[in-house]
Amino acid sequence: MYSQIQEKQLYQSTIDFLSLEKLQAQDYLQAIACLQYHEWKYYVQNEAVISDQQYDLLFQFVKEFEAAHPASIHQDSPTQRVGNDSISEFETVSHLQAMLSLDNTYNLDDLNDFDQRIKKLCSLSSEQELEYLVEPKFDGGSISVVFENDQMVRAATRGDGMRGDEITLNAKTIKSLPLKAKFSSLGITKAELRGEAIISKSNFAQINIKREQQGLTLLANARNASTGVLRVKDPKETASRNLDLFIFQFSFAENQNRDSVLDQFQNQNQSIEALAQLGFKVATVERKLCKGIQQVFDFIQQWVERRDQYHYELDGMVVKLNDFKLQELCGYTSHHPRWAVAFKFQAKQASSKLLAVEFQVGKIGSITPVAKIEPVPLAGVTVSSISLHNEDFILSKDLHLGDTVLVERAGDVIPYIVKSFPELRPESAKAIRFPTHCPSCDSALIKEQDQAAWRCVNPNCPAQLTQKLIHHVSKDAMDIDGLGSSLIERFAELGMIRSMADIYRLDYQAISQLEGMGQKSSEKLKLSIEKAKKNPIHRVLHGLCIHHVGKKVSKLIAEQIHSLLDLQHWPLERYIAIKDVGPVVGEKMLNYFSQVENITMLKEMEILGVNMIQTEEDQAKQISDGVFSGKTILFTGSLQSIGRTEAQELAEQAGAKNLSAVSSKLNILVVGTDAGSKLKKAQEIPTIQIMTEEEFLKAIGK
Ligand code: IVH
Repeated sequence: MYSQIQEKQLYQSTIDFLSLEKLQAQDYLQAIACLQYHEWKYYVQNEAVISDQQYDLLFQFVKEFEAAHPASIHQDSPTQRVGNDSISEFETVSHLQAMLSLDNTYNLDDLNDFDQRIKKLCSLSSEQELEYLVEPKFDGGSISVVFENDQMVRAATRGDGMRGDEITLNAKTIKSLPLKAKFSSLGITKAELRGEAIISKSNFAQINIKREQQGLTLLANARNASTGVLRVKDPKETASRNLDLFIFQFSFAENQNRDSVLDQFQNQNQSIEALAQLGFKVATVERKLCKGIQQVFDFIQQWVERRDQYHYELDGMVVKLNDFKLQELCGYTSHHPRWAVAFKFQAKQASSKLLAVEFQVGKIGSITPVAKIEPVPLAGVTVSSISLHNEDFILSKDLHLGDTVLVERAGDVIPYIVKSFPELRPESAKAIRFPTHCPSCDSALIKEQDQAAWRCVNPNCPAQLTQKLIHHVSKDAMDIDGLGSSLIERFAELGMIRSMADIYRLDYQAISQLEGMGQKSSEKLKLSIEKAKKNPIHRVLHGLCIHHVGKKVSKLIAEQIHSLLDLQHWPLERYIAIKDVGPVVGEKMLNYFSQVENITMLKEMEILGVNMIQTEEDQAKQISDGVFSGKTILFTGSLQSIGRTEAQELAEQAGAKNLSAVSSKLNILVVGTDAGSKLKKAQEIPTIQIMTEEEFLKAIGK
């Protein structure tokens, strides 16, 4: 349909147009061509390369241009008709009622305009409060189903709105679609309903886990997972996806005399209730009758907040004028009904360009690749920097510099790259190469067995030291107010801090002379540092940046000692004897406290006034239970962002006990990629909670 060169050109034009304020006359036809291309990507290829929001913006540009130049409106303009999702291999059928699209709004002002427009169309006063039915805008594939004499006889995709692809056998596999329904009890012999085929978020996650095991490319989102299988040749494939069908429109009903009998319902809500009675799946708690546009807006706001917890993907809410007589007065454009509008949520996914990759050195030397992308607005923030986790992640996503990438940010989840689009890749694009040497000190990087990250093991690596210092002064560790990462970086660059001990012997006189500092800030800093010197020893221990020794473990160890320096005499057994401390932590502690330079530094800190002694008050403090306290856990498959041992250690720190096999004794199974028989077995035991790696890390606060 489109050559690769055309695809690249159309994508580039889209991006260029989107950066404009409005469309110029000479760009109008190209903008239409772009919209048509994106409709094809979205409806036919099921692989959108721009977000809905980006599409809507370009659509809006075209609409505005057409409003200003009505004589130039092209008949193929997407504003004049709905997109076409037909695939030539399918038989097409005519819908009994045209399947139109919806107009979009993004804010309260737009909604108010919509409300006022309707009042004008219905010749009502602008103060009158209208009744609206508000329900989710399900994000899946739109289909129509026809019933004759209480039997489901036909299902079709939307197609061009007038004719769609016939997909009856595929639709029959959808369990929430009754194949028989007593329309006759309503005097209806022939009916057409419209609904959205969707899949739940958890089902989507399972599908992708399976695809990864089978070495297939991952599906970008739940929408793609549902629409893709509506139009396959083998209905078994559709059945395997476990689609759901929400019905949202009773679009046609006639009796044996072929008279329309839809008028037995007075409003939208009644017609939907009647369908629910007949056994169709409709929005229930998610649907509300609202009086006046403010109530509509309030209900939508509730859903903006609940969206991430909801088990289906929603891309907005649909607002429909409830009364059928008023709907008739409003009528239709060739593109959408004038009595309904979609309120679109902020996009969670958008495409952007991968500009560069920076390799950052962490506090224990792990190298994290960070993608710099062309800034994109996503769910309320602008994203320009995204962690790529590790080398395997880059390879699995086949990332090249200059690639167009799909970026997702859902709720409070950190943004991540879902996929790249090889079809839009510039010919000269180079694959991303992971460095072999540390970008800070040039030491050769190593990768330990079982670990996902490459690491710099040079103990004197300047970048590592800076990160260690930043951790040392951070909230969870020594909590030094006013000494943030930029000041640490500055002091390190000036050679004022070369070790942790140096923090406690800063030259405040010199600091007061620094640009932007002055006497006052210097004194304030001194106060914070003096205060930090009195911190309990678990904070000092946590601040030392010993691998795997986090907040909780530091507290557990600190409880057992009088002075921090006692630890230089501790054998491994003493660490392991502490409940919830394992051998991995023990080894790391042993290693740290056996190095002379570390002991020397701690002694220096002690001389400088940093507290090294356990006070009674600290000892009395109870340690809060970990999130997995008393739970058993097992990791299976390969983990992406951490190694297996590290994960087990983290689980231990959070109070869990690691098991080695799946049995009814197991509480939690954390699933990485390529999970096999263990996952299968766990799925058969309903008491086992199955978690993704991401969910596990989130639970432990990582
Ligand atoms: S009403 C004439 N209600 O959104 C009625 N549409 O962007 C027009 N959609 O093609 C549609 N949930 O596939 C309606 N509750 C809902 C919907 C909904 C999802 C889809 C539908 C339509 C698209 C328009």
